Amino acid sequence: MTAIESHNLTKYYDDLCAVDHLSLSVDNEIFALLGPNGSGKTTTVLMLTTLLRPTEGSATVCGYDCVTEGNNVRKKISYVPQDMAVDIKLTGRENVVFFAKLYGVSNPKEKADEALAIMDLADRADDLVKTYSGGMRRRLELAQALVHKPAVLFLDEPTLGLDVAARKKIWEHIQELRSLGMTVFVTTHYMDEADRYCDRVAIISQGIIRVIGEPKNLKAQLMKDVITAKISGEYFPFNLNGIRFLGRKEDEVSFTAENGREALPIIAEALTARGMKIHSLSLHEPTLDDVFLNVVGSSDEPRSFNDQQFRVMLRRRK
Ligand SMILES: Nc1ncnc2c1ncn2[C@@H]1O[C@H](COP(=O)(O)OP(=O)(O)OP(=O)(O)O)[C@@H](O)[C@H]1O
Ligand SMILES: [Mg+2]
Repeated sequence: MTAIESHNLTKYYDDLCAVDHLSLSVDNEIFALLGPNGSGKTTTVLMLTTLLRPTEGSATVCGYDCVTEGNNVRKKISYVPQDMAVDIKLTGRENVVFFAKLYGVSNPKEKADEALAIMDLADRADDLVKTYSGGMRRRLELAQALVHKPAVLFLDEPTLGLDVAARKKIWEHIQELRSLGMTVFVTTHYMDEADRYCDRVAIISQGIIRVIGEPKNLKAQLMKDVITAKISGEYFPFNLNGIRFLGRKEDEVSFTAENGREALPIIAEALTARGMKIHSLSLHEPTLDDVFLNVVGSSDEPRSFNDQQFRVMLRRRK
């Protein structure tokens, strides 16, 4: 039975299309839904966890329909929301035992201790959560989430607001859960983390999945090198032999080429000849940020009003 399947899953908030005909199949892996703020990640998770009713389309988790068989879905999953969900006035252990009882787990205290140990919190289990760091609170949420041994774990932005060391630790724990046989569906806007720790990623923008696949395969769709120039002056797209424009992000423009070293002076000359001032030029191997630029254009571009209006128009016409 596939862990998560969705077909044309769609959510409108009034006239705003937050998730647009999203179809995917996720099983036995760490799967990341990657996208900028407002791209529809949380809305997708809310529909898959039965907390929000889709406007159109359908989804199943472990074979159960997320709308008509919500109770069965909820027995199979855990969901750690984007905002913190621990009671800081209780101890770590009390928080996890509370969840264990909520899920009807037998031996709640024993199971809570097991979950706390997996998350490296055993030695702080009796301390009040208000004395925990942000990373520890996140790990406590993971302990709560796995206390009833769910088949599928949904994590919305699990590393948001944490420092580098705490993030790494969270990801190591997520990988451990994956090795215990859980399917993990995670949202993030940190491309580098998804690249390093996830089996597959889907890049979403404006509610639409733009690409989906293993990070290494997505990066392989670009040429061998990426050249990024920090510029001032108006940028007008242009083509160069064997060099492809990837996209613009704020004052940076990126290109991809098979031989970056040869491409560097050609790009520099082309930019200068078109009246742009170059502040820096750099060369690197393709990253998921570059894949994003390639499929979306610009990661900081506001939602296209015309595009949105067009989709609203289409919907009204149906
Ligand atoms: N309850 C709501 N009512 C109306 N609009 C909403 C609601 N929730 C979300 N939206 C809008 O839907 C779009 C998608 O929001 P969503 O929260 O799913 O994005 P996200 O990718 O999770 O963003 P972030 O990275 O900031 O968490 C946004 O334009 C948002 O403003
Ligand atoms: Mg969100």
